[in-house]
Amino acid sequence: MAFDIEMIKGVYSTMAERVDKAREVVGKPLTLSEKILYNHLWDKTPTKAFVRGKDYVDFAPDRIACQDATAQMALLQFMQAGKPKVAVPTTVHCDHLIQAKEGAAKDLKQANSVSSEVFNFLESVSNKYGIGFWKPGAGIIHQVVLENYAFPGGMMIGTDSHTVNAGGLGMVAIGVGGADAVDVMAGMAWELKFPKLIGVKLTGKLSGWTAPKDVILKVAEILTVKGGTGAIVEYFGPGATSMSCTGKGTICNMGAEIGATTSTFGYDESMERYLKATDRVDVAEAANKVKDYLTADPEVYANPEQYFDQVIEINLSELTPLLNGPFTPDLSTPAGSEMTKKATDNDWPLKVEWGLIGSCTNSSYEDLSRASSIAQQALDKKLKTKAEFGINPGSEQVRYTAERDGILKVFEDLDATIFTNACGPCIGQWARYSDPKNAPKNSIVHSFNRNFAKRADGNPNTHAFVASPELTAAIAISGKLDFNPLTDKLINEDGEEVMFDEPTGWELPPKGFEVKENGYLAPKEDGSNVDVVVASDSERLQLLTPFEPLGDSITGAKLLIKAFGKCTTDHISMAGPWLRFRGHLDNIANNTLIGAVNAFNKKTNFVKNQLTGDYGGVPDVQRAYKAEGIKTVVVGDHNYGEGSSREHAAMQPRHLGVAAVIVKSFARIHETNLKKQGMLGLTFDNESDYDLIQEDDTFNFLDLNEFAPDKQLTLEVVHADGSKDTIKLNHTYNEAQIDWYKEGSALNLIKKQNA
Ligand code: F3S
Repeated sequence: MAFDIEMIKGVYSTMAERVDKAREVVGKPLTLSEKILYNHLWDKTPTKAFVRGKDYVDFAPDRIACQDATAQMALLQFMQAGKPKVAVPTTVHCDHLIQAKEGAAKDLKQANSVSSEVFNFLESVSNKYGIGFWKPGAGIIHQVVLENYAFPGGMMIGTDSHTVNAGGLGMVAIGVGGADAVDVMAGMAWELKFPKLIGVKLTGKLSGWTAPKDVILKVAEILTVKGGTGAIVEYFGPGATSMSCTGKGTICNMGAEIGATTSTFGYDESMERYLKATDRVDVAEAANKVKDYLTADPEVYANPEQYFDQVIEINLSELTPLLNGPFTPDLSTPAGSEMTKKATDNDWPLKVEWGLIGSCTNSSYEDLSRASSIAQQALDKKLKTKAEFGINPGSEQVRYTAERDGILKVFEDLDATIFTNACGPCIGQWARYSDPKNAPKNSIVHSFNRNFAKRADGNPNTHAFVASPELTAAIAISGKLDFNPLTDKLINEDGEEVMFDEPTGWELPPKGFEVKENGYLAPKEDGSNVDVVVASDSERLQLLTPFEPLGDSITGAKLLIKAFGKCTTDHISMAGPWLRFRGHLDNIANNTLIGAVNAFNKKTNFVKNQLTGDYGGVPDVQRAYKAEGIKTVVVGDHNYGEGSSREHAAMQPRHLGVAAVIVKSFARIHETNLKKQGMLGLTFDNESDYDLIQEDDTFNFLDLNEFAPDKQLTLEVVHADGSKDTIKLNHTYNEAQIDWYKEGSALNLIKKQNA
């Protein structure tokens, strides 16, 4: 059902030729990351060496994975492409829209009732277009991908930032926005700036209480939340090969927390064991045949400083269990007395109220078994747990096997709540309080990846600390944030002093994995007769209609807003409660630019309607222009559209009738997204022309009929007093992108080409 061995063999079949050629053009031995990248060039055979951190390169990923929140708009867009099937293997995973409240059975039932229309939509689109569908409760996207689809040397993209988890199986796996995923689904290339490379050499061996989680918590401390930006982190050395495959997944997963493009490990025996245990002997055998291409050239690891842009070395034998937080994943504190001091100095509550184990980061069989060994000791040593326990297994396969092997029973005997195999508390889907905004200050410990304020339970006063599953379990049982299981004693029910022994566990289930109903639905071979149903009165979903081309003559356009200062994708399309409308363009468009600061009055969501002279919210004023058939222009400052790759930030203004966005400079992804939606994304030739723009301005594009690559456009700015300024605008559209503009959007063009 799941993986496609022929596709994987195809990837391996080109490795020798392309990697050898790449080595020749680069002129030196190659890292693993380079081997994977050069084997996935859209143009196939490498002909030149790319400059890291500079060159934009077209790639051909092998797979795509989407989660239920981001898949909605991605699939709505894909439906516009007029393709009968997705061009590369794709899966959809229902994991984000399930709240954690009372436990798996009740919570799943509730989610299936509250979000049934979204799940049904995703299921029917998947069935129609050849996409594998993982039902609610089947598991968390990244654990399911690791168990079923990831393979050494592969390249995948996914519409979730922790797609990088698949690096644990030696992939280059990267989180992207929906628009990028749609391109690849529709058979187009995927563009990425050739990443820089950070090498992390792991020496020594993990033992006792230290776990793979501590490796990435240490790396986060060293590199901070920004240190990996624009880079692939490649782990190597004896410490790397001594770790389990799922442990490597944990490390790669949290590469997102240091801003890394992705992280990866060379193919080794732990990966072979994992592939075999997850029913993929043929993948392991195929990988074994190209082993040398699935790790760096020997010279690289012998002299890493020569080949990586930065090298870090960590001795695993010296590593101690860490707790990172609160509110940021790079603030490291060793368990124990240092935490006592820091918590006291900073007024962090020392009493721990919850210990949460699971999420896409740490929900493998190994994680659950090691944490349960601590829970079992609590039972054996007559310790009563002081904090509450919550467990989110990563997949139904892990859950079923853990239940069969008595692991879940141990947690249940400690009164733990077993939540659905889904994201739950990891993504704020934790119904912990009725009024989270006014909930009390408290501390929790979890084995997840992110711990920003409000991330878990919506309570800004929850201090969340990230730790390994085994340390999370020990701290939850002790109820103390500064508990050090290596040195501290606890008093049991009989009044005796007891200590924990070191955690133990299994890398893989001794009796093998087992599952009854894994929650996977294969798509129909021929989906042409499958109907995709979206209710016309739905609040959450709306089928898209193709955008009309804006044409080669735009005159009389009005200024919608001149944004002042920072204007990120969050300012353009806010998240929070609006996420509910991600699949409904018209409804979510009611948040368009409501966070942008109006340069004329320094207020947000308060702009002049030139037709009436009144002031109103940006979406309302824009809708008033649209009703009169008047196009509009948005003007912005530097780095306009920075932040996430969210395509809504381009689609919403387009939907509401904005024709052009003219700024001092763009964040590149947003600029591309505007182009894809058939809009004009332009920059001032003379930055100070930004100052010429007045609140009542009207715009005439004088030479849009001559729109061509490398040719400036001319804009006439007509002010309220009748005076005019004529200014030059730059653009970065190439021929193909100008065709997107002419057709109304990139998808319109694809559809036309398919017709
Ligand atoms: Fe993401 Fe957490 Fe789910 S990191 S995939 S929200 S478990």
